[in-house]
Amino acid sequence: MSRKIVVTGRIPSVAITQLRQIDETTVWAWDADEPAPRELLLTELEDAVAAVTLLDDRVDRALLDRAPLLQVVANVAVGYNNIDVAACTERGVIVTNTPGVLTDATADLTLGLVLMLTRRLGEGDRLIRSGAAWRWGMFMMLGAGLRDRQLGIVGLGQIGTAVARRAKAFGLDVVYHNRTRATPATEAELGVRYLPLDELLATSDIVSLHCPYTPDTHHLIDAAALSSMQQHAVVVNTARGPIVDEAALVDALESGTLAGAALDVYEHEPEVHPGLRSLDNVVLTPHLGSATVETREAMALTAAQNVAAVLTGALVPNRVKV
Ligand code: GLV
Repeated sequence: MSRKIVVTGRIPSVAITQLRQIDETTVWAWDADEPAPRELLLTELEDAVAAVTLLDDRVDRALLDRAPLLQVVANVAVGYNNIDVAACTERGVIVTNTPGVLTDATADLTLGLVLMLTRRLGEGDRLIRSGAAWRWGMFMMLGAGLRDRQLGIVGLGQIGTAVARRAKAFGLDVVYHNRTRATPATEAELGVRYLPLDELLATSDIVSLHCPYTPDTHHLIDAAALSSMQQHAVVVNTARGPIVDEAALVDALESGTLAGAALDVYEHEPEVHPGLRSLDNVVLTPHLGSATVETREAMALTAAQNVAAVLTGALVPNRVKV
């Protein structure tokens, strides 16, 4: 009997090929750039044993109620805040994600955003494109160098660690906060210092967010956190939008109590707070953390491997624990 795998959005075709090779399966895949209508997905999931999902698919109780045969939800992302993992676990549905393969791409983007912000690259690009007259000037568009400045990494997982390694190469002094402190050996190897979050915020020149989005990290960077930061400090968010209270961020940027922000993710994605768009000390990118050709292929293949493992009873490589 053939088992049905539903792929909720367009993913690289190598992964579809891999899914088709799993014994006794058929693959139904939505193949358009715009999101599939939710009702269509719910209907397709009614007889599916596996769902390959994207980070903007909501996997909640309502969906699970419609998918009684489901064994696995394989999210093509490292983050899985779109999935009600507890509800899946109650029903015996395994949830998987794609850690590791997107670490470098996301860390690279983070350093790119740091440089865009501190060297005012977005502003410079906008100036040239505006057609306004300009000439080289000793005091024109001066930014801040990175050497000896303090980078505060919030969340020292794989991506936070990769950011730390890159940051050291730029001469940044790296501090971090994490729920569990790294071992002395890891701290020594990375050359990073642990700080409680309030101290990290109060002393860092650049604060970069790399924690998962959970109820505990909702608005972790709120008005109070922002006001505890130095006036010349900047915030970089390549993790998840709602970790930052976007309205409070706009207030801090507009009032000058914070010097800048670089955001790849948004509180109400894909909406962007209109106040952010008009500010020059803000860099905005459209959730590009893992957006390289090879990374997206690797993510999709990882999800396919996770599905294959569940359906063949093998050890599941990237099982998410509640
Ligand atoms: C991207 O945001 C991811 O979680 O993989």
